[in-house]
Amino acid sequence: MTRYHPLLVTIHWLMGLLIIMMLIFGNLVTGPLDNADPEKIEALTGHMAIGVTIGMLLIFRIIVRVRSQTPAHATTGNPMLDKIGVATHHLMYVVVAGMVLSGLGMGLGLGLFGVVYGGEGALPVDLSERLPARAHDMISNILLLLVVLHVAAAFYHQLILRDGLFRRMWFGKRQ
Ligand code: HEM
Repeated sequence: MTRYHPLLVTIHWLMGLLIIMMLIFGNLVTGPLDNADPEKIEALTGHMAIGVTIGMLLIFRIIVRVRSQTPAHATTGNPMLDKIGVATHHLMYVVVAGMVLSGLGMGLGLGLFGVVYGGEGALPVDLSERLPARAHDMISNILLLLVVLHVAAAFYHQLILRDGLFRRMWFGKRQ
Protein backbone atom coordinates (compact mmCIF):
# COMPACT_ATOMS: atom_id res chain seq x y z
CA MET A 1 0.00 0.00 0.00
CA THR A 2 1.66 3.20 -1.16
CA ARG A 3 -1.07 5.80 -0.60
CA TYR A 4 -3.86 6.60 1.84
CA HIS A 5 -7.50 5.99 0.88
CA PRO A 6 -8.82 8.82 -1.38
CA LEU A 7 -11.47 9.70 1.21
CA LEU A 8 -8.74 10.09 3.86
CA VAL A 9 -6.70 12.22 1.44
CA THR A 10 -9.70 14.52 0.89
CA ILE A 11 -10.48 14.77 4.62
CA HIS A 12 -6.79 15.36 5.47
CA TRP A 13 -6.38 18.38 3.18
CA LEU A 14 -9.83 19.77 3.98
CA MET A 15 -9.23 19.52 7.74
CA GLY A 16 -5.73 20.97 7.36
CA LEU A 17 -7.10 23.99 5.49
CA LEU A 18 -9.97 24.54 7.95
CA ILE A 19 -7.75 24.12 11.06
CA ILE A 20 -5.08 26.54 9.80
CA MET A 21 -7.83 29.05 8.88
CA MET A 22 -9.41 28.65 12.35
CA LEU A 23 -6.06 29.11 14.12
CA ILE A 24 -5.27 32.28 12.14
CA PHE A 25 -8.76 33.88 12.35
CA GLY A 26 -9.33 32.62 15.92
CA ASN A 27 -6.12 34.20 17.21
CA LEU A 28 -6.28 37.38 15.12
CA VAL A 29 -10.03 38.10 14.89
CA THR A 30 -12.48 35.97 16.95
CA GLY A 31 -10.52 35.83 20.23
CA PRO A 32 -9.41 39.50 20.45
CA LEU A 33 -12.84 41.03 19.52
CA ASP A 34 -14.70 42.60 22.45
CA ASN A 35 -17.82 40.65 23.39
CA ALA A 36 -19.88 43.86 23.25
CA ASP A 37 -18.84 44.39 19.61
CA PRO A 38 -21.59 43.09 17.25
CA GLU A 39 -18.83 41.82 14.95
CA LYS A 40 -17.95 39.23 17.61
CA ILE A 41 -21.28 37.44 17.03
CA GLU A 42 -20.71 37.62 13.27
CA ALA A 43 -17.21 36.14 13.68
CA LEU A 44 -18.54 33.40 15.99
CA THR A 45 -21.29 32.44 13.49
CA GLY A 46 -18.63 31.15 11.09
CA HIS A 47 -16.15 30.05 13.77
CA MET A 48 -18.56 27.82 15.68
CA ALA A 49 -20.06 26.28 12.51
CA ILE A 50 -16.61 25.47 11.10
CA GLY A 51 -15.46 24.18 14.51
CA VAL A 52 -18.39 21.74 14.71
CA THR A 53 -17.72 20.70 11.07
CA ILE A 54 -14.09 19.94 12.01
CA GLY A 55 -15.39 17.76 14.87
CA MET A 56 -17.62 15.78 12.48
CA LEU A 57 -14.79 15.44 9.95
CA LEU A 58 -12.55 14.13 12.74
CA ILE A 59 -15.04 11.37 13.64
CA PHE A 60 -15.50 10.49 9.94
CA ARG A 61 -11.72 10.47 9.49
CA ILE A 62 -11.19 8.06 12.39
CA ILE A 63 -13.83 5.69 10.96
CA VAL A 64 -12.25 5.73 7.46
CA ARG A 65 -8.75 5.40 8.96
CA VAL A 66 -9.71 2.31 10.98
CA ARG A 67 -11.58 0.68 8.08
CA SER A 68 -9.05 1.34 5.29
CA GLN A 69 -5.57 0.03 4.58
CA THR A 70 -2.80 2.56 5.16
CA PRO A 71 0.84 2.72 4.05
CA ALA A 72 3.52 1.70 6.59
CA HIS A 73 4.80 4.59 8.76
CA ALA A 74 7.22 6.85 6.88
CA THR A 75 10.80 6.49 8.15
CA THR A 76 13.64 9.00 8.44
CA GLY A 77 16.45 6.56 9.23
CA ASN A 78 16.49 7.85 12.82
CA PRO A 79 14.38 5.66 15.20
CA MET A 80 13.95 8.54 17.67
CA LEU A 81 12.56 10.91 14.99
CA ASP A 82 10.29 8.13 13.73
CA LYS A 83 8.86 7.64 17.24
CA ILE A 84 8.28 11.40 17.58
CA GLY A 85 6.52 11.34 14.18
CA VAL A 86 4.09 8.58 15.20
CA ALA A 87 3.43 10.20 18.60
CA THR A 88 2.81 13.62 16.99
CA HIS A 89 0.22 12.14 14.65
CA HIS A 90 -1.66 10.49 17.53
CA LEU A 91 -1.41 13.64 19.63
CA MET A 92 -2.89 15.72 16.81
CA TYR A 93 -6.12 13.68 16.92
CA VAL A 94 -6.36 14.23 20.69
CA VAL A 95 -5.58 17.95 20.50
CA VAL A 96 -8.05 18.64 17.66
CA ALA A 97 -10.70 16.74 19.68
CA GLY A 98 -9.74 18.92 22.69
CA MET A 99 -10.27 22.09 20.62
CA VAL A 100 -13.70 20.97 19.46
CA LEU A 101 -14.78 19.76 22.94
CA SER A 102 -13.61 22.93 24.73
CA GLY A 103 -15.37 24.98 22.02
CA LEU A 104 -18.55 22.95 22.54
CA GLY A 105 -18.06 23.43 26.30
CA MET A 106 -18.27 27.18 25.76
CA GLY A 107 -21.08 26.92 23.20
CA LEU A 108 -23.31 24.66 25.28
CA GLY A 109 -22.19 25.61 28.80
CA LEU A 110 -22.49 29.37 28.31
CA GLY A 111 -25.53 29.30 25.99
CA LEU A 112 -23.57 30.74 23.04
CA PHE A 113 -25.51 28.73 20.43
CA GLY A 114 -28.73 30.57 21.42
CA VAL A 115 -27.00 33.97 21.34
CA VAL A 116 -25.13 33.41 18.07
CA TYR A 117 -27.74 31.50 16.02
CA GLY A 118 -31.00 32.29 17.81
CA GLY A 119 -30.50 36.00 18.61
CA GLU A 120 -31.29 35.23 22.28
CA GLY A 121 -29.74 37.65 24.79
CA ALA A 122 -26.13 38.79 24.65
CA LEU A 123 -22.68 37.24 24.97
CA PRO A 124 -21.20 37.13 28.49
CA VAL A 125 -19.14 40.29 29.15
CA ASP A 126 -15.87 38.38 29.27
CA LEU A 127 -15.27 34.77 28.31
CA SER A 128 -11.55 34.70 28.98
CA GLU A 129 -11.85 33.77 32.69
CA ARG A 130 -14.19 30.82 32.03
CA LEU A 131 -12.58 27.38 32.22
CA PRO A 132 -13.55 26.11 28.73
CA ALA A 133 -12.39 29.41 27.18
CA ARG A 134 -9.03 29.17 28.94
CA ALA A 135 -8.70 25.53 27.88
CA HIS A 136 -9.65 26.49 24.28
CA ASP A 137 -6.95 29.19 24.24
CA MET A 138 -4.28 26.95 25.81
CA ILE A 139 -5.02 23.95 23.56
CA SER A 140 -4.95 26.25 20.49
CA ASN A 141 -1.30 27.08 21.31
CA ILE A 142 -0.43 23.37 21.52
CA LEU A 143 -2.25 22.73 18.24
CA LEU A 144 -0.40 25.60 16.56
CA LEU A 145 2.93 24.10 17.67
CA LEU A 146 1.94 20.63 16.42
CA VAL A 147 0.79 22.02 13.05
CA VAL A 148 4.14 23.84 12.61
CA LEU A 149 6.03 20.62 13.54
CA HIS A 150 3.84 18.54 11.21
CA VAL A 151 4.36 20.88 8.22
CA ALA A 152 8.13 21.17 8.91
CA ALA A 153 8.45 17.37 9.12
CA ALA A 154 6.51 16.89 5.86
CA PHE A 155 8.84 19.32 4.03
CA TYR A 156 11.90 17.67 5.65
CA HIS A 157 10.81 14.36 4.11
CA GLN A 158 9.92 15.90 0.77
CA LEU A 159 12.84 18.30 0.24
CA ILE A 160 15.74 16.94 2.33
CA LEU A 161 15.15 13.17 2.38
CA ARG A 162 13.48 13.35 -1.05
CA ASP A 163 11.35 10.28 -0.29
CA GLY A 164 8.22 11.54 -2.10
CA LEU A 165 6.20 11.70 1.14
CA PHE A 166 3.53 13.98 -0.36
CA ARG A 167 2.55 11.28 -2.89
CA ARG A 168 1.33 9.14 0.02
CA MET A 169 -1.25 11.79 0.91
CA TRP A 170 -2.48 12.36 -2.66
CA PHE A 171 -4.76 10.65 -5.16
CA GLY A 172 -3.58 7.88 -7.48
CA LYS A 173 -2.87 4.17 -7.74
CA ARG A 174 -2.51 2.68 -4.24
CA GLN A 175 -0.62 -0.54 -5.05
C1 HEM B 1 -10.42 22.66 15.60
C2 HEM B 1 -11.40 23.49 15.91
C3 HEM B 1 -11.18 24.87 16.48
C4 HEM B 1 -10.08 25.70 16.41
C5 HEM B 1 -8.73 25.43 15.74
C6 HEM B 1 -10.41 26.92 17.16
C7 HEM B 1 -9.54 27.98 17.38
C8 HEM B 1 -9.81 29.09 18.17
C9 HEM B 1 -8.85 30.11 18.53
C10 HEM B 1 -7.39 30.12 18.12
C11 HEM B 1 -9.50 31.03 19.30
C12 HEM B 1 -8.90 32.27 19.97
C13 HEM B 1 -8.56 31.94 21.41
C14 HEM B 1 -8.19 33.18 22.21
O1 HEM B 1 -7.46 34.01 21.69
O2 HEM B 1 -8.66 33.29 23.35
C15 HEM B 1 -10.87 30.61 19.42
C16 HEM B 1 -11.87 31.30 20.11
C17 HEM B 1 -13.17 30.86 20.27
N1 HEM B 1 -13.71 29.65 19.81
FE1 HEM B 1 -12.71 28.23 18.75
N2 HEM B 1 -11.70 26.80 17.63
C18 HEM B 1 -12.22 25.58 17.24
C19 HEM B 1 -13.48 25.07 17.51
C20 HEM B 1 -14.49 25.76 18.18
C21 HEM B 1 -15.84 25.25 18.41
C22 HEM B 1 -16.36 23.87 18.00
C23 HEM B 1 -16.51 26.24 19.08
C24 HEM B 1 -17.96 26.24 19.58
C25 HEM B 1 -18.91 25.53 19.06
C26 HEM B 1 -15.60 27.36 19.28
C27 HEM B 1 -15.91 28.54 19.95
C28 HEM B 1 -15.04 29.58 20.20
C29 HEM B 1 -15.37 30.79 20.94
C30 HEM B 1 -16.72 31.10 21.58
C31 HEM B 1 -14.21 31.58 20.99
C32 HEM B 1 -14.05 32.99 21.64
C33 HEM B 1 -13.40 32.86 23.01
C34 HEM B 1 -13.15 34.23 23.64
O3 HEM B 1 -13.63 35.22 23.14
O4 HEM B 1 -12.43 34.25 24.66
N3 HEM B 1 -14.39 27.03 18.72
N4 HEM B 1 -11.04 29.40 18.75
